[in-house]
This record gives sequence, structure tokens and C-alpha cells, in this order.
Amino acid sequence: MFNALVVNKNEEGKTSAAVEQITVDQLPEGDVTVAVEYSTVNYKDGLCVGPGGGLVRNYPHVPGIDFAGTVEASDNPNYKAGDKVVLTGWRVGEAHWGGYAQKARVKGDWLVPLPAGIDARQAMAVGTAGFTAMLAIMALEDHGLKPGNGPVLVTGAAGGVGSVATAILSNLGYEVAGVTGRPEQADYLKSLGATQIVAREELNETTKRPLEAETWAGCVDAVGGDMLARVLGQMKYGASVSAVGLAGGAGLPATVIPFLLRGVNLLGIDSVMQPYDNRLRAWERLAKDLPMDKLEAMITPATLTDLPGLGKDILKGQIKGRVVVDVNA
Ligand SMILES: NC(=O)c1ccc[n+]([C@@H]2O[C@H](COP(=O)([O-])OP(=O)(O)OC[C@H]3O[C@@H](n4cnc5c(N)ncnc54)[C@H](OP(=O)(O)O)[C@@H]3O)[C@@H](O)[C@H]2O)c1
Repeated sequence: MFNALVVNKNEEGKTSAAVEQITVDQLPEGDVTVAVEYSTVNYKDGLCVGPGGGLVRNYPHVPGIDFAGTVEASDNPNYKAGDKVVLTGWRVGEAHWGGYAQKARVKGDWLVPLPAGIDARQAMAVGTAGFTAMLAIMALEDHGLKPGNGPVLVTGAAGGVGSVATAILSNLGYEVAGVTGRPEQADYLKSLGATQIVAREELNETTKRPLEAETWAGCVDAVGGDMLARVLGQMKYGASVSAVGLAGGAGLPATVIPFLLRGVNLLGIDSVMQPYDNRLRAWERLAKDLPMDKLEAMITPATLTDLPGLGKDILKGQIKGRVVVDVNA
């Protein structure tokens, strides 16, 4: 028997989550069983611990869209017992039981070996949010972003994606402007390396002007909606925006003018189905380019019993940085 956070749905369609004891036989199909050490809390986890958001297919459900730990048993030729691994994406924690348990069983092809220099706790401090921030920065670099091009904007800066993006960009020598709706987090963002704090109100209203002053050399956008539409008109000539999230809305009330007159690029970032080679590349970059002392400063520790409350908090945009869940505590 081992502990798992199990979400049940009653006949009225209401979900409830609680820590329960389950057995290995109850785990879903897969060729690798992992002794989970740490998991974390992402926006999607908030949905899957709570109302489901259309992501969860069957109940009872074990959420947790990412985890890190040690292989316990493997029928996959690429993994053996004792290997340290990390998992993000592949709809684990949504369609497949996830990391909010002391054990998880998954397809070995979904796993990535932990890179040298990152342990299981640090890997979950990074988690899906940080991994996606790295993918977003890699995409900007692949489209020509270089230090010296000008300030890079990070929206939803005090959240998970935003915090990790801010720390990496600053470490790489970029000037970082962080957009936040929480002015009290300005010192935190400066400690991660932001040199400019932009108030959310300055950017979350649309304007009739399709082009404004050329300001940003790049943007990692966790917010979407009106803010993304506004930012597109403020990008420098030929600059790119990595669209990562929808914390502010899924709409995009924009014009095509920034694309046509300034050659602005809007780059879509998906972490879930990301090919294996690019996953390896991103984890290796994280080990090299994310300062571990700054990662440490983002962490709030938690246990399985804290998750129902934390799930609600992240849906309200109230989590600062990254939560690391010790599933064995
Ligand atoms: N594409 C992918 O594969 C992928 C992967 C991971 C995450 N995501 C998405 O990326 C987004 C961020 O994820 P996360 O884990 O970083 O979540 P998070 O920790 O909750 O961060 C989101 C941040 O956005 C800001 N925000 C919240 N509500 C807002 C609003 N109404 N208007 C403007 N800003 C708002 C807040 O930052 P401030 O308080 O600083 O303003 C909040 O901390 C989510 O939408 C998530 O689903 C996508």
C-alpha cells in the first residue's frame, strides 16, 4: 500500500480530492514503475485536482502532470531499476494517472533521464512550468534573439513559467522586464534578475493602435488574451513572442499589422507532445543556464495533503514561483 492523492466525482458531478492508500495493482498500464520522490503544482494540476476542466477522462483519478524519482521496475530497454528520471507532459496526470502518489507507472518512452547537475527535487522545482519556459527561450533564440537586442518581456512574471524564464534570461545576459499584477512581488522578481517591473494594468487593455513604440526584443508570454494582443504591437522589428499560456484568457483580439509591417513572429510553445530530442536539449540547457540558487528562491515546499488548497490557489493566480511537493513526507 502507498499514498496517493485520489480525486473522486460524485453523482452530482462534484469532485473531491483526498489522500488515500492504493496498491501497485491499481496503477495504470505502462512498462516502467517509478518510485516518485517529488511532484509539483502547475496550472493544469489546479484543474485536475479540482473541477477537471475537461482534462480528466475517468474517475477515480490521480493527478500530477509531472514527477521526478527513481525507476523501481522496468520492462523498457532504455531504463533499469535505480535510474533517476523526470516526466513532464504526454497527458500524464490528465488522461493517465500522474505524479501525486508515491509510485507511478508510465510508458518508458515518456521519461527523460535526469541530467547531470539536477536532482529530483530541483527537477520538480523546474517542473512543466520551468521546462516550458526553457522551450520558449530556445524558440526565441532559434528565431534570432541575442543579448544586446534589447529588453525581453516576461508576462505573468511572478508565476511558475514567468519566474523560471526571468531567472534564465537574466543569467544569459538579457535585460528582463517582468509584467506582474502583484506589485508586492517586485523585490522577488528583481532577486531573480528582472531589471524592470511593468504593472499588469499597463498592458492588459487593448488599444485601437495596432502599432506602438518598438520596445521589446523578445517576449515569453504566459498570459495570452488582451495582454498578448497589446504586446504584439510593441515588439521591435523582426522580434518574436513565445506564446506559452492563457492565464489571462484564450482569446487573441489582435490585428495582423505587427506581422505584416514589423515582421513580428508569434511562436507557439507546446510542452506536452514535445519530441524526445528537444526534451533532452531543454533539460541539458536548464542544468547549464538556470542558476540553482535562484531556483531555490522560487520554492515553496508542500506535501500531498496540501494539494487541494494549492490547486485552488494556482487557479486564482496566487502561487508565487514554484511549489515542490514531497510525496513521501
Ligand atoms: N504551452 C504549454 O505547454 C504550457 C506549459 C506550462 C504552462 N502553460 C500555461 O502557462 C500559463 C502559466 O502557467 P504557470 O504554471 O506559470 O501558472 P502560474 O504559476 O499560475 O502563473 C501564471 C501567472 O500569470 C499571471 N496572471 C494570472 N491571472 C492573470 C490575469 N487574469 N491577467 C494577467 N495575468 C495573470 C500571474 O502572474 P503575476 O501575479 O506576476 O501577474 C500568475 O502568477 C498557464 O496558462 C498554463 O496553462 C502552458
